[in-house]
Amino acid sequence: MIEKDFLSLERLTRDELEEFFLITDLLRRDSIYQPLKGKSAALIFQKPSLRTRVSFEVGVCQLGGHPIFLSQEGVGIGTREKASDVARLLSRFTQLIVARLYDHEILLELAEYASVPVINALTDLSHPCQILADMYTLRQHGRLAPGIKIVFVGDGNNVVRSWLEMACIFPMRFVLAAPRGYDPDPAILRKVRQSTESTVEIVRRAEEAVAGADVVYTDVWTSMGQEKEMAARKKAFAKFKVTKSLMALAKFDCLFMHCLPAHRGEEVTEEVLEGGQSIVFDEAENRLHVQKAVMARLLGFRYSGAGRATTLRHVAGAGGKR
Ligand code: CP
Ligand code: NVA
Repeated sequence: MIEKDFLSLERLTRDELEEFFLITDLLRRDSIYQPLKGKSAALIFQKPSLRTRVSFEVGVCQLGGHPIFLSQEGVGIGTREKASDVARLLSRFTQLIVARLYDHEILLELAEYASVPVINALTDLSHPCQILADMYTLRQHGRLAPGIKIVFVGDGNNVVRSWLEMACIFPMRFVLAAPRGYDPDPAILRKVRQSTESTVEIVRRAEEAVAGADVVYTDVWTSMGQEKEMAARKKAFAKFKVTKSLMALAKFDCLFMHCLPAHRGEEVTEEVLEGGQSIVFDEAENRLHVQKAVMARLLGFRYSGAGRATTLRHVAGAGGKR
Protein backbone atom coordinates (compact mmCIF):
# COMPACT_ATOMS: atom_id res chain seq x y z
CA MET A 1 0.00 0.00 0.00
CA ILE A 2 1.39 3.37 -0.98
CA GLU A 3 1.00 5.66 2.00
CA LYS A 4 2.71 8.99 2.61
CA ASP A 5 6.27 7.93 1.78
CA PHE A 6 8.31 5.73 -0.56
CA LEU A 7 10.80 4.11 1.83
CA SER A 8 10.87 0.53 0.61
CA LEU A 9 9.12 -1.82 -1.80
CA GLU A 10 7.85 -4.04 0.98
CA ARG A 11 4.32 -2.68 1.24
CA LEU A 12 3.80 -1.97 -2.44
CA THR A 13 1.09 -4.03 -4.17
CA ARG A 14 1.28 -5.56 -7.61
CA ASP A 15 -1.42 -3.12 -8.83
CA GLU A 16 0.57 -0.17 -7.52
CA LEU A 17 3.67 -1.47 -9.27
CA GLU A 18 1.68 -1.61 -12.51
CA GLU A 19 0.34 1.90 -11.91
CA PHE A 20 3.90 3.20 -11.45
CA PHE A 21 4.75 1.68 -14.83
CA LEU A 22 1.72 3.29 -16.48
CA ILE A 23 2.44 6.71 -14.96
CA THR A 24 6.05 6.33 -16.10
CA ASP A 25 4.90 5.55 -19.67
CA LEU A 26 2.63 8.57 -19.60
CA LEU A 27 5.27 10.97 -18.30
CA ARG A 28 7.78 9.71 -20.86
CA ARG A 29 5.31 10.14 -23.68
CA ASP A 30 3.97 13.53 -22.75
CA SER A 31 5.77 16.46 -21.15
CA ILE A 32 2.61 18.49 -20.45
CA TYR A 33 2.21 17.10 -16.94
CA GLN A 34 3.62 19.34 -14.22
CA PRO A 35 2.51 17.81 -10.92
CA LEU A 36 5.29 19.67 -9.09
CA LYS A 37 4.44 23.09 -10.52
CA GLY A 38 5.07 25.72 -7.88
CA LYS A 39 6.47 23.11 -5.50
CA SER A 40 9.97 22.54 -4.09
CA ALA A 41 11.78 19.30 -3.26
CA ALA A 42 14.65 18.97 -0.77
CA LEU A 43 17.30 16.44 -1.83
CA ILE A 44 19.43 15.44 1.17
CA PHE A 45 22.55 13.46 0.26
CA GLN A 46 24.86 12.08 2.98
CA LYS A 47 26.64 9.84 0.45
CA PRO A 48 28.09 10.47 -3.02
CA SER A 49 25.84 10.08 -6.07
CA LEU A 50 25.77 10.71 -9.80
CA ARG A 51 22.64 8.98 -11.18
CA THR A 52 20.33 9.50 -8.22
CA ARG A 53 21.18 13.13 -7.68
CA VAL A 54 21.00 14.11 -11.35
CA SER A 55 17.86 12.07 -12.06
CA PHE A 56 16.02 13.60 -9.12
CA GLU A 57 17.18 17.15 -9.88
CA VAL A 58 16.24 16.85 -13.56
CA GLY A 59 13.03 14.98 -12.71
CA VAL A 60 11.81 17.63 -10.28
CA CYS A 61 12.53 20.35 -12.88
CA GLN A 62 10.76 18.42 -15.66
CA LEU A 63 7.70 18.10 -13.43
CA GLY A 64 7.65 21.88 -12.96
CA GLY A 65 9.22 21.96 -9.49
CA HIS A 66 12.33 23.38 -7.89
CA PRO A 67 14.96 20.98 -6.47
CA ILE A 68 17.17 22.05 -3.56
CA PHE A 69 20.31 19.95 -3.14
CA LEU A 70 21.47 19.66 0.47
CA SER A 71 24.79 18.01 1.32
CA GLN A 72 25.64 16.35 4.62
CA GLU A 73 28.22 19.11 5.24
CA GLY A 74 25.47 21.69 4.85
CA VAL A 75 22.70 20.00 6.83
CA GLY A 76 24.56 17.74 9.27
CA ILE A 77 21.73 15.34 10.07
CA GLY A 78 22.54 13.79 13.43
CA THR A 79 25.49 16.11 14.04
CA ARG A 80 24.37 19.71 13.47
CA GLU A 81 20.67 18.94 13.81
CA LYS A 82 18.38 16.07 14.78
CA ALA A 83 16.59 14.29 11.91
CA SER A 84 13.22 15.04 13.54
CA ASP A 85 13.97 18.78 13.47
CA VAL A 86 15.28 18.64 9.87
CA ALA A 87 12.08 16.84 8.84
CA ARG A 88 9.76 19.39 10.46
CA LEU A 89 11.77 22.33 9.16
CA LEU A 90 11.86 21.06 5.56
CA SER A 91 8.13 20.31 5.72
CA ARG A 92 7.52 24.03 6.29
CA PHE A 93 9.46 25.00 3.15
CA THR A 94 9.14 22.15 0.67
CA GLN A 95 6.53 19.66 -0.54
CA LEU A 96 8.80 16.61 -0.89
CA ILE A 97 11.98 15.21 0.70
CA VAL A 98 14.36 12.86 -1.12
CA ALA A 99 17.07 11.41 1.12
CA ARG A 100 20.21 9.32 0.55
CA LEU A 101 21.46 8.32 3.99
CA TYR A 102 23.68 5.79 5.72
CA ASP A 103 21.38 4.71 8.52
CA HIS A 104 17.90 3.54 7.47
CA GLU A 105 16.62 4.42 10.96
CA ILE A 106 17.34 8.08 10.22
CA LEU A 107 15.22 7.79 7.07
CA LEU A 108 12.39 6.36 9.17
CA GLU A 109 12.77 9.23 11.63
CA LEU A 110 12.66 11.78 8.81
CA ALA A 111 9.50 10.16 7.44
CA GLU A 112 7.86 10.01 10.84
CA TYR A 113 8.37 13.71 11.55
CA ALA A 114 7.94 15.11 8.02
CA SER A 115 4.42 16.07 7.04
CA VAL A 116 5.48 15.85 3.37
CA PRO A 117 6.37 12.64 1.45
CA VAL A 118 9.86 11.22 1.95
CA ILE A 119 11.59 9.11 -0.74
CA ASN A 120 14.42 6.64 -0.05
CA ALA A 121 17.23 7.51 -2.48
CA LEU A 122 19.39 4.67 -1.00
CA THR A 123 20.34 3.77 2.54
CA ASP A 124 22.65 1.08 3.89
CA LEU A 125 19.55 -1.12 4.00
CA SER A 126 17.87 -0.66 0.62
CA HIS A 127 17.61 1.07 -2.76
CA PRO A 128 13.97 0.87 -3.89
CA CYS A 129 14.17 3.50 -6.69
CA GLN A 130 16.88 1.43 -8.35
CA ILE A 131 14.88 -1.78 -8.43
CA LEU A 132 11.73 -0.03 -9.58
CA ALA A 133 13.73 1.38 -12.50
CA ASP A 134 15.27 -2.04 -13.15
CA MET A 135 11.85 -3.69 -13.30
CA TYR A 136 10.64 -0.99 -15.68
CA THR A 137 13.74 -1.61 -17.80
CA LEU A 138 13.01 -5.35 -17.98
CA ARG A 139 9.43 -4.55 -19.00
CA GLN A 140 10.73 -2.15 -21.66
CA HIS A 141 12.91 -4.95 -23.04
CA GLY A 142 9.90 -7.29 -23.11
CA ARG A 143 11.43 -9.56 -20.49
CA LEU A 144 9.31 -8.95 -17.42
CA ALA A 145 7.26 -12.12 -17.03
CA PRO A 146 6.20 -13.94 -13.86
CA GLY A 147 8.79 -16.58 -13.02
CA ILE A 148 11.68 -14.57 -14.51
CA LYS A 149 15.01 -15.90 -13.23
CA ILE A 150 17.19 -13.14 -11.82
CA VAL A 151 20.66 -14.10 -10.65
CA PHE A 152 22.56 -11.61 -8.54
CA VAL A 153 26.26 -12.33 -8.38
CA GLY A 154 27.98 -10.62 -5.45
CA ASP A 155 27.21 -9.02 -2.12
CA GLY A 156 23.85 -9.51 -0.39
CA ASN A 157 23.66 -5.74 0.01
CA ASN A 158 21.09 -2.91 -0.13
CA VAL A 159 20.36 -3.58 -3.82
CA VAL A 160 19.72 -7.27 -3.07
CA ARG A 161 17.43 -6.24 -0.20
CA SER A 162 15.31 -4.25 -2.64
CA TRP A 163 15.26 -7.16 -5.10
CA LEU A 164 13.95 -9.37 -2.29
CA GLU A 165 11.32 -6.79 -1.41
CA MET A 166 10.34 -6.76 -5.10
CA ALA A 167 10.15 -10.58 -5.01
CA CYS A 168 7.40 -10.15 -2.39
CA ILE A 169 5.28 -8.39 -5.02
CA PHE A 170 6.31 -9.86 -8.36
CA PRO A 171 6.72 -13.64 -8.80
CA MET A 172 10.33 -14.41 -9.69
CA ARG A 173 13.08 -16.94 -9.20
CA PHE A 174 15.77 -14.97 -7.42
CA VAL A 175 19.17 -16.54 -6.92
CA LEU A 176 22.03 -14.91 -5.05
CA ALA A 177 25.53 -16.21 -5.67
CA ALA A 178 27.59 -14.92 -2.74
CA PRO A 179 30.39 -16.12 -0.49
CA ARG A 180 29.48 -17.16 3.06
CA GLY A 181 29.20 -14.19 5.39
CA TYR A 182 27.61 -11.87 2.82
CA ASP A 183 24.03 -13.12 2.84
CA PRO A 184 21.00 -10.83 3.18
CA ASP A 185 18.91 -10.42 6.31
CA PRO A 186 17.32 -13.83 7.15
CA ALA A 187 13.99 -12.15 7.95
CA ILE A 188 13.45 -10.89 4.40
CA LEU A 189 14.55 -14.26 3.00
CA ARG A 190 11.97 -15.96 5.25
CA LYS A 191 9.30 -13.51 4.13
CA VAL A 192 9.90 -14.28 0.44
CA ARG A 193 10.03 -18.01 1.09
CA GLN A 194 6.99 -18.23 3.36
CA SER A 195 4.52 -15.76 1.99
CA THR A 196 5.07 -15.21 -1.73
CA GLU A 197 4.96 -17.02 -5.06
CA SER A 198 8.64 -16.22 -5.63
CA THR A 199 11.51 -18.51 -4.83
CA VAL A 200 14.86 -17.44 -3.44
CA GLU A 201 18.04 -19.48 -3.33
CA ILE A 202 21.52 -18.71 -2.10
CA VAL A 203 24.37 -20.58 -3.73
CA ARG A 204 28.12 -20.41 -3.20
CA ARG A 205 29.17 -20.90 -6.83
CA ALA A 206 28.30 -18.33 -9.49
CA GLU A 207 28.57 -20.98 -12.23
CA GLU A 208 25.82 -23.02 -10.59
CA ALA A 209 23.59 -19.96 -10.07
CA VAL A 210 23.49 -18.63 -13.63
CA ALA A 211 22.15 -21.73 -15.39
CA GLY A 212 18.88 -20.72 -17.08
CA ALA A 213 19.18 -17.08 -15.97
CA ASP A 214 17.14 -14.40 -17.77
CA VAL A 215 19.14 -11.71 -16.02
CA VAL A 216 22.58 -11.63 -14.45
CA TYR A 217 22.89 -8.66 -12.12
CA THR A 218 25.84 -7.43 -10.11
CA ASP A 219 26.95 -4.48 -7.98
CA VAL A 220 30.18 -3.32 -6.39
CA TRP A 221 31.79 -5.61 -3.84
CA THR A 222 32.32 -2.72 -1.43
CA SER A 223 29.36 -0.39 -0.97
CA MET A 224 29.55 3.21 0.16
CA GLY A 225 30.45 3.28 3.85
CA GLN A 226 32.25 -0.11 3.79
CA GLU A 227 35.56 1.22 2.48
CA LYS A 228 37.52 -0.16 5.47
CA GLU A 229 36.49 -3.70 4.44
CA MET A 230 37.69 -3.30 0.85
CA ALA A 231 40.73 -5.61 1.04
CA ALA A 232 38.81 -8.40 2.78
CA ARG A 233 35.94 -8.06 0.33
CA LYS A 234 38.21 -8.21 -2.73
CA LYS A 235 39.47 -11.52 -1.43
CA ALA A 236 36.05 -12.88 -0.50
CA PHE A 237 34.42 -11.97 -3.84
CA ALA A 238 37.30 -12.92 -6.15
CA LYS A 239 35.32 -15.86 -7.58
CA PHE A 240 32.11 -13.82 -7.96
CA LYS A 241 33.04 -11.81 -11.02
CA VAL A 242 30.71 -11.59 -14.04
CA THR A 243 32.77 -12.62 -17.05
CA LYS A 244 31.98 -13.58 -20.63
CA SER A 245 32.41 -17.25 -19.76
CA LEU A 246 29.98 -16.92 -16.83
CA MET A 247 27.42 -15.19 -19.09
CA ALA A 248 27.80 -18.06 -21.57
CA LEU A 249 26.37 -20.44 -18.94
CA ALA A 250 23.12 -18.45 -18.72
CA LYS A 251 20.30 -18.34 -21.34
CA PHE A 252 21.59 -17.25 -24.75
CA ASP A 253 19.52 -14.04 -24.53
CA CYS A 254 20.29 -13.34 -20.88
CA LEU A 255 20.57 -9.63 -20.06
CA PHE A 256 23.33 -8.13 -17.94
CA MET A 257 22.38 -5.48 -15.39
CA HIS A 258 24.33 -3.33 -12.93
CA CYS A 259 23.06 -0.40 -10.88
CA LEU A 260 26.34 1.46 -11.49
CA PRO A 261 28.86 2.86 -10.74
CA ALA A 262 30.84 -0.20 -11.89
CA HIS A 263 34.36 -1.25 -11.00
CA ARG A 264 35.55 -2.70 -14.29
CA GLY A 265 37.72 -5.77 -13.77
CA GLU A 266 36.35 -6.37 -10.27
CA GLU A 267 32.70 -7.44 -10.13
CA VAL A 268 32.35 -7.35 -13.93
CA THR A 269 34.70 -7.39 -16.88
CA GLU A 270 34.84 -4.52 -19.37
CA GLU A 271 33.76 -6.96 -22.07
CA VAL A 272 30.47 -7.84 -20.36
CA LEU A 273 29.70 -4.30 -19.20
CA GLU A 274 30.19 -2.94 -22.73
CA GLY A 275 28.82 -6.04 -24.49
CA GLY A 276 25.58 -6.59 -26.40
CA GLN A 277 23.77 -8.18 -23.43
CA SER A 278 24.37 -5.19 -21.18
CA ILE A 279 21.45 -2.80 -20.55
CA VAL A 280 23.12 -0.75 -17.82
CA PHE A 281 22.51 2.66 -19.41
CA ASP A 282 18.82 1.90 -19.97
CA GLU A 283 18.60 1.14 -16.26
CA ALA A 284 20.31 4.42 -15.46
CA GLU A 285 18.06 6.45 -17.77
CA ASN A 286 14.94 4.84 -16.36
CA ARG A 287 15.82 6.12 -12.90
CA LEU A 288 14.68 9.52 -14.16
CA HIS A 289 11.41 8.26 -15.62
CA VAL A 290 10.25 6.03 -12.76
CA GLN A 291 11.23 8.52 -10.06
CA LYS A 292 9.07 11.14 -11.78
CA ALA A 293 6.19 8.66 -11.48
CA VAL A 294 6.97 8.05 -7.80
CA MET A 295 7.01 11.79 -7.08
CA ALA A 296 3.77 12.42 -8.98
CA ARG A 297 2.03 9.50 -7.25
CA LEU A 298 3.13 10.59 -3.77
CA LEU A 299 1.79 14.07 -4.49
CA GLY A 300 -1.62 12.60 -5.17
CA PHE A 301 -1.61 12.14 -8.94
CA ARG A 302 -3.18 8.94 -10.25
CA TYR A 303 -3.21 7.27 -13.63
CA SER A 304 -6.63 7.28 -15.20
CA GLY A 305 -8.28 6.27 -18.45
CA ALA A 306 -7.65 3.59 -21.04
CA GLY A 307 -6.10 3.20 -24.49
CA ARG A 308 -4.96 6.54 -25.90
CA ALA A 309 -7.28 8.53 -23.63
CA THR A 310 -5.08 8.24 -20.58
CA THR A 311 -4.17 11.03 -18.24
CA LEU A 312 -2.72 11.95 -14.89
CA ARG A 313 -5.34 13.18 -12.49
CA HIS A 314 -5.01 14.68 -9.04
CA VAL A 315 -7.04 12.76 -6.51
CA ALA A 316 -7.65 14.32 -3.12
CA GLY A 317 -6.20 12.08 -0.46
CA ALA A 318 -4.41 9.83 -2.98
CA GLY A 319 -1.04 11.04 -1.78
CA GLY A 320 -1.39 8.83 1.26
CA LYS A 321 -1.87 9.55 4.95
CA ARG A 322 -0.53 12.80 6.36
N1 CP B 1 22.82 3.57 -9.05
C1 CP B 1 22.93 4.67 -8.30
O1 CP B 1 22.16 4.91 -7.35
O2 CP B 1 23.94 5.51 -8.68
P1 CP B 1 24.48 6.77 -7.88
O3 CP B 1 25.13 6.24 -6.61
O4 CP B 1 25.46 7.43 -8.78
O5 CP B 1 23.33 7.66 -7.52
N1 NVA C 1 25.51 -1.09 -3.14
C1 NVA C 1 25.97 0.18 -3.68
C2 NVA C 1 24.95 0.74 -4.59
C3 NVA C 1 25.35 2.02 -5.26
C4 NVA C 1 24.27 2.56 -6.14
C5 NVA C 1 26.27 1.12 -2.53
O1 NVA C 1 25.47 1.17 -1.58
O2 NVA C 1 27.30 1.79 -2.56
